[in-house]
Amino acid sequence: WKRITLNHLAAKYDKGEPITMVTAYDYPSAVHVDNAGIDICLVGDSVGMVVHGHDTTLPVTMDDMLLHCRAVSRGASRSLLVGDLPFGSYEESKEQAVASATRLLKEGGMDAIKLEGGTPSRVIAARSIVEAGIAVIGHVGLTPQAISVLGGFRPQGRNAASATKVLESALALQDAGCFAIVLECVPSPVAAAVTSSLQIPTIGIGAGPNCSGQVLVYHDLLQMTQHPHHAQVTPKFCKAYGNIGIAVNEALCKYREEVVSQKFPSAAYTPYRIDQSSVETFI
Ligand code: KIV
Ligand code: NA
Repeated sequence: WKRITLNHLAAKYDKGEPITMVTAYDYPSAVHVDNAGIDICLVGDSVGMVVHGHDTTLPVTMDDMLLHCRAVSRGASRSLLVGDLPFGSYEESKEQAVASATRLLKEGGMDAIKLEGGTPSRVIAARSIVEAGIAVIGHVGLTPQAISVLGGFRPQGRNAASATKVLESALALQDAGCFAIVLECVPSPVAAAVTSSLQIPTIGIGAGPNCSGQVLVYHDLLQMTQHPHHAQVTPKFCKAYGNIGIAVNEALCKYREEVVSQKFPSAAYTPYRIDQSSVETFI
C-alpha cells in the first residue's frame, strides 16, 4: 500500500511536519504532483477557472469533475486523491451530498472529497458523507462557491465577527468528522488561532505560515496562465515556483518561426527512409 492515507497525514500532523497539497486536473499534472512527493493531490473546482477559462468556479458540474478526477486518478499513484464537490452538488439535502460524494469515489477514483463549509446545512452534509464512509476535507474562509453572498473574491476574518465565523465554521466541520480544513484567504493570526483550536490539520492558502500544511493551485504556482498579451490573475499570495506560461509561449513562437523559415523539420527530424529500389519505382 504505497498510497498516502489519513493515517500518514495524522502522523505528520502529530509530529508537526507540514502537509503538502497541490491541485491537478489531468493526467500529466497528476503525474507531476505525484512525482514531486506531494501528500495530497486535489482535483479542485478551480478547474473551471484555470483550465476552462470561467471567471468563477460556479459553472463546474459533476460531469466536469468526474472527467478530471478520472484523468488525475490514472496519473497519481501515491498522493491521496481529493475531489471537490462542485457548486450545486451538495447543498440541497444530505442525500444529494452523499450521492455526489459517492460518485467522486466510485466513478472518479478519488480517495476523499472536499466541500465548502460554514452553514449548518454544509456541516450536516459533511457529517452525512463521513457517516457514509467517505473522508471529508472542509474549506472555510474565502469559499469561492459563495462569492454571490461574499460579494466577490475577498479575504475573510478581517474583523472580530468574521474571524469568529471562520473559527466556528472550522470547529463545526471538525465536529462533523472532517479530517482536515482548508483555510483560504484569512489573516495569519486568524489561521494561527484556528490551527491551535483544532485537533485536525489546517491547510492554508493565502493564510500565512501558521497552518499545518499548505495548498496552491498548480497553474498558479507554475505561472502557467501567465499568457503574454492576456490578463493575468495569479493571486497575491501565490509564489511563482516556475515560469511555465512564458516557457510555453517561447517554445510555440520558436516553432512557428522555424516552420515559416523552413528550419523545421531539418534532416535530424526526418527519420523515415524508403529503400532505393522503391524510390526509383515510386518516384
Ligand atoms: O479548487 C481549488 O483549487 C481549491 C483550493 C484553492 C483549496 O479549493
Ligand atoms: Na475548490
